Amino acid sequence: MNSVTVQVPAKVNLQLAVGAVRPDGYHELVSVFHAVSLYDEVTVTRADELVVTVEGENADDVPVDRSNLAARAVALLADRLGQSPDVHVHLRKGIPVAGGMAGGSADAAAALVACDTLWRGNTPRDMLRRLGAELGSDVPFSDLGGTAIGTGRGERLAAVPTVGVYHWVFALADGGLSTPAVYGECDRLREAAGTPVPDPAPSESLIAALRAGDVPALGATLTNDLQDAAISLRPSLRATLDAGLAGGALGGIVSGSGPTCAFLAADEAGARTVARALAASGTCRTTRVAFGQVGGARVVPQRLRS
Ligand code: C5P
Repeated sequence: MNSVTVQVPAKVNLQLAVGAVRPDGYHELVSVFHAVSLYDEVTVTRADELVVTVEGENADDVPVDRSNLAARAVALLADRLGQSPDVHVHLRKGIPVAGGMAGGSADAAAALVACDTLWRGNTPRDMLRRLGAELGSDVPFSDLGGTAIGTGRGERLAAVPTVGVYHWVFALADGGLSTPAVYGECDRLREAAGTPVPDPAPSESLIAALRAGDVPALGATLTNDLQDAAISLRPSLRATLDAGLAGGALGGIVSGSGPTCAFLAADEAGARTVARALAASGTCRTTRVAFGQVGGARVVPQRLRS
C-alpha cells in the first residue's frame, strides 16, 4: 500500500454557547456539532519528505508549510508511532477555507486516519481522537461525525440522537475570518456591554427538536454566541442572514466563527429556493447546498477513488 485517501465532512454548529475564558486561554463551550455533506479528501502517499499540496477553491489561502494542521497531524502521529513522517499530503478542498466549517480540523482528522492506515499503526480510534484534540478543538468531532455535543473547549464529545435529514444552504463569503479574532471580539463586546458571561448549557429545545426530527423547531432554535462578534468584524453578514431568511429559510446563523452563514431549509427543493434567493441578493460570494447528518472521517476504498 503506497497511498491512502480519507474523506472527511464539514461541520456546522447548531448551538455554540461560549462561556468564560479559561486559564489556558480557551473558552469554556457547549457546542452542538452537526456534520454536513461538504467534504475534503486527504490523500497521503509515501514520499522522501513531508510535503503538502492543496487543490480546490481558495487553495492559495491554505499554508503548505509545517504550520498546516494536516502536516502537524502527520508529524504528531509519526512521533507517537516512532515512524518517519515522510509523506506527500494532498488536500482536495470541498470545505470552504477559513469559513467557520472546521476545514483545517477536518484535514487534521483525515490525515491522522490516513497515516495510521498507511503505516498500519492500528491506533484505536478514540486514541486518534485524543491526539486530534491536541491539534485543535474541532478535530475529534471531524473524526466522529454525525451530531454531537462538545464540552470543555469543544473536544469532549457525546453523540446526540437524531432522526431525519436536514437540508442546508451555506452562503460563502469573500475571504475568511480568524477564529481567535472572533473569540477576542466576543470577549470585547461582552466587556463593553458589561454583560455577565453565561455558563454555557445545552439548549433543551434544540436537543428535543433533533430527537423528534422536527425541522421547523430546529430552525427556530439555532443559536451562536459568536454571531454578534462575527457580524461586528464583518457587518455585511447581517444582510446575508436577512437575505436567506427572506428567501424562505427556517433558520439562519453564522457558522462557527464565520464568515460562512448556514440556513436550514424545509426540504431539498426549499434549499434550492433559498440558494437562488441568496445568489440573487448579491450578499454572498457563492452558495453550497448540503445535507446532514453525515458520518465522520472514513477511508475511501481504492476502487472508488477518482
Ligand atoms: O482549538 P483551535 O486551535 O481550533 O482553536 C482556534 C482558536 O480559537 C484558539 O486559538 C482560541 O483563540 C479560540 N478558541 C477559544 N476557545 C475554544 C476554542 C477555540 O478561545 N473553546
